[in-house]
Amino acid sequence: MECFLRELPKCEHHLHLEGTLEPDLLFPLASRNNIQLPDNFPKTVEELNKRYSQFADLQDFLDFYYIGTNVLVQEDDFFDLAWAYFQRAKSDGLWHCEVFFDPQSHTERGIDLDVVVKGFQRACDKAQSELGITTQLIMCLLRHLPSQSGLATIESAREHIANGTIHALGLDSAEKPFPPQLFCDCYSRVKEINPSIQLTAHAGEEGDADFVTNSLNLLNVTRIDHGINSVHDDILIKRLSDNQTLLTVCPLSNVKLQVVKDVSELPLQKLLDANVPFSLNSDDPAYFGGYILDNYVAVHTRFGWSIDTWAQVAVNAINGSWCHQDRKDEILREIANVVEKHRPIIEKISA
Ligand code: ADE
Ligand code: ZN
Repeated sequence: MECFLRELPKCEHHLHLEGTLEPDLLFPLASRNNIQLPDNFPKTVEELNKRYSQFADLQDFLDFYYIGTNVLVQEDDFFDLAWAYFQRAKSDGLWHCEVFFDPQSHTERGIDLDVVVKGFQRACDKAQSELGITTQLIMCLLRHLPSQSGLATIESAREHIANGTIHALGLDSAEKPFPPQLFCDCYSRVKEINPSIQLTAHAGEEGDADFVTNSLNLLNVTRIDHGINSVHDDILIKRLSDNQTLLTVCPLSNVKLQVVKDVSELPLQKLLDANVPFSLNSDDPAYFGGYILDNYVAVHTRFGWSIDTWAQVAVNAINGSWCHQDRKDEILREIANVVEKHRPIIEKISA
C-alpha cells in the first residue's frame, strides 16, 4: 500500500516554503549570512530537532518559525530552500503544488520583496522544467501584523499580482486573536489589482468554525486552509459540500501543534461521508517531521482506506487545484493508471 501511496499523483496545497527550512540548512545559512541566533536557541541540529518535537501550540511553533526565517537573506537562499523542497517532494509523488510564502517575515527585516519572489520563482521554474512539477505561488499575509502592513505588502507586490506571478492571496500566523474580518480591505484590494486572483485563508485550525464561515462571508475565499473545526457546524459542512470548497488538511501538523492527540482523531471520515473535499498536506515539514507522503501514510495507518477511497481523495485534490484543466486531466489520467496498476496486487493481498 505504501508503494501505491508513493506512486499516487499528489497535489500539495498547504505548504509554507519557509516551513521547509530543515535544521541542517538553517545553521549553514545563519553562518553564510552572519545571522546571530538568540542565545537560548538550540546549538545543534539534534537539539533543534528535539525541540521541534515538543511544540506546546501554534504560537510556540511560530516563535521558532520566525527565528528560522531570519537566516534567509539572499535570492539564492530562497532559491536553495524551495529547490530542496521540490526535489524532496518529487520522490513522494508530487505532481502539482500551490505553495505559500510569507513576504512580511522578510520585508520587516529589510529584505526586498522582489528578492524573495525572484528566488522562489526561479526554483518554481526549475521544478517545472527539470522535475515536471507544476507550481503556483500564494502570498500570505501575517495576521498578527496590522492590515495596513498587509496593504503595503500588496502594494509592493502589485506587479507580481497583476501579471499572475502571485497566483493567490492567503492569510496565516496566530489565528485566534486575529479574526478574518480584520483583513477585508486587503482581500478586496488584491481583487481590484487582479480580478482573477484566487483567495484562501487559514481558518479553523485553532479557531472555531465561525472563523471558517467569516472567511467565506467576509474575505470571499474559495478555499480554506486547515478548516477541521468546520465539523462542529452542520450548516457550514453542508455549505462546504454544496460549493465543493476544498479544505487543505495537515494531519502531522495538527498532531505536532496539539490540535489533536493523534491523526485518528481528525474528522476525515466525517468529511468524506459529508462529501466535503479535502487534500492532505505537510504544512511545515521541516518542523513537523514529515513530508507529503508521510502524511498520506500516517492517515492510511489510522483510517485503512481502500484503494478506491484513496483514489477519490487524490481526485478531490486535483479538482480543488487552481491549475489549468489540461493539467488536471493529465494528472487524473495518471491517477487512473496508478490505481489500475496496483489494484490487482492490493486486492490479492487483502483477499
Ligand atoms: N505559518 C506557518 N505554518 C502555519 C500554520 N500551521 N498555521 C498558521 N500559520 C502558519
Ligand atoms: Zn499553514
